Amino acid sequence: MNDVLKAVSRRRAIYPDRFNNNEITQEQVRELLEAARFAPTHKLTEPWRFHVLMGDSKHSYADKIKTFVEDKTNKPEKGDRMKEKMDQSQAVIVISYQRDPRERVPEWEEIAATAMAVQNIWIHTQALGMGGYWSTGAPAVEALTRQLSLEPGEKILGLFFLGRHDHEPRQRPSKSVDEFTTWLT
Ligand SMILES: Cc1cc2nc3c(=O)[nH]c(=O)nc-3n(C[C@H](O)[C@H](O)[C@H](O)COP(=O)(O)O)c2cc1C
Repeated sequence: MNDVLKAVSRRRAIYPDRFNNNEITQEQVRELLEAARFAPTHKLTEPWRFHVLMGDSKHSYADKIKTFVEDKTNKPEKGDRMKEKMDQSQAVIVISYQRDPRERVPEWEEIAATAMAVQNIWIHTQALGMGGYWSTGAPAVEALTRQLSLEPGEKILGLFFLGRHDHEPRQRPSKSVDEFTTWLT
């Protein structure tokens, strides 16, 4: 297996309850985000945007999101779970995309490009001894949409919970190429 396929195939969702407490610095998150810069992007709109919540701001947003989720869902355990995940993470990266103001490409292409940027980041976590996963829970997305200062046309796609961990990637079932490919030769 070549190095690229190895990195792609070993990428896994690592959940916050598997994180250890080892520190990730702002500089290390910046290094992680370098991978986003090289995602493909139609018309070079570079739509991906990230708000990085760390330290005190992570704690304060965790409290705000917990309250919002509890009020919204009437399920205190959901608010508690979200706060716990934020507390267990060294950083929470809010993933959003910025619609091109000139609308030169369809909106789905901006979302696709942002997802590719996230994939680059996700793969890069492995090289930096980090792990995490993309979470799209609607109440948390709504809470952050209200609480962060977003630019006009900017929309949140979820949160990337980031931490360090000591786990070997688990195996995951996946379809074979011939199950998702139609060959016209
Ligand atoms: C766009 C997107 C949204 C996701 N949202 C969630 C989520 O809200 N909650 C969750 O537990 N996992 C979420 N995941 C992670 C998937 O559950 C995970 O990728 C899947 O189980 C496959 O496992 P693997 O990433 O370890 O290969 C999301 C993944 C993607 C690509």
